Amino acid sequence: MDTNQPALSVRDIHKQFGNTEVLRGVSFEAHSGDVVSIIGSSGSGKSTLLRCINFLESPNSGEIVVGGEAIRTRKDKTGSLVPVDKAQLRQMRARLGMVFQNFNLWDHRTVMDNIIEGPVHILKQSKKQAKEQARALLDKVGLFDKEDHYPSQLSGGQQQRVAIARALAMNPTVMLFDEPTSALDPELVSEVITVIRQLAEEKRTMIMVTHEMALAREISSKLIFLDQGLIHTQGSPAEVMDNPDSDRLRQFLGMLNAA
Ligand SMILES: Nc1ncnc2c1ncn2[C@@H]1O[C@H](COP(=O)(O)OP(=O)(O)OP(=O)(O)O)[C@@H](O)[C@H]1O
Ligand SMILES: [Mg+2]
Repeated sequence: MDTNQPALSVRDIHKQFGNTEVLRGVSFEAHSGDVVSIIGSSGSGKSTLLRCINFLESPNSGEIVVGGEAIRTRKDKTGSLVPVDKAQLRQMRARLGMVFQNFNLWDHRTVMDNIIEGPVHILKQSKKQAKEQARALLDKVGLFDKEDHYPSQLSGGQQQRVAIARALAMNPTVMLFDEPTSALDPELVSEVITVIRQLAEEKRTMIMVTHEMALAREISSKLIFLDQGLIHTQGSPAEVMDNPDSDRLRQFLGMLNAA
């Protein structure tokens, strides 16, 4: 990996579903240690953008570059970009740790097995090494005593912290968070925010879709307002939130304040 390059470059990503253009040319960069938060109303394309970054969705055009290396693609018959090299895609995805709104843990596996799956099968770590690391990560997210539990035996906040530990176990170049606290009961939000704040303090590079404006203001190096598939405004949290430069942004921020 070339350390002079941005940790992540998202270049002119377009994505359509049927005739609907959901992303209409989105570009941004995150340098090592940056926290880029993405806000925008429901349906503006935030999740689709995150899913295009790790190719859970295939963009129609554009390029994703992680640590200076582009995900190699070609156009298929339908006009979507498809990865040409499955092994490279696996490696590139390993550099992009994804944390989903609904945790997406494997329900029939223990916490420990959820965390060591990637390190053992993709990074080829020994089980012993992977387990040691997993225990350290569980300790970090405040769940050192939960390794033998199944996800159904945990609260939502605990499941999300396991999901964060699982993503960290791959030592990703960039962490992608899609509304990590929005499926949680209000009293469980803060335990997840505490972990995310700690990752920001450690200078983890993160891209975070969120409605938690206080958190976004506190930890973001850049805030992006996505509107109808385009970056409408970007800047420091203060620039974007304190001096909204358009009616659409004012309206969006006003809706959040009213909520
Ligand atoms: N697999 C799909 N097939 C068809 N349309 C889709 C698909 N995924 C998303 N869309 C559409 O793309 C648009 C953007 O969806 P997306 O989930 O990215 O929005 P979002 O900004 O994450 O919204 P929310 O805040 O509600 O999570 C929506 O109109 C949605 O209906
Ligand atoms: Mg979404």
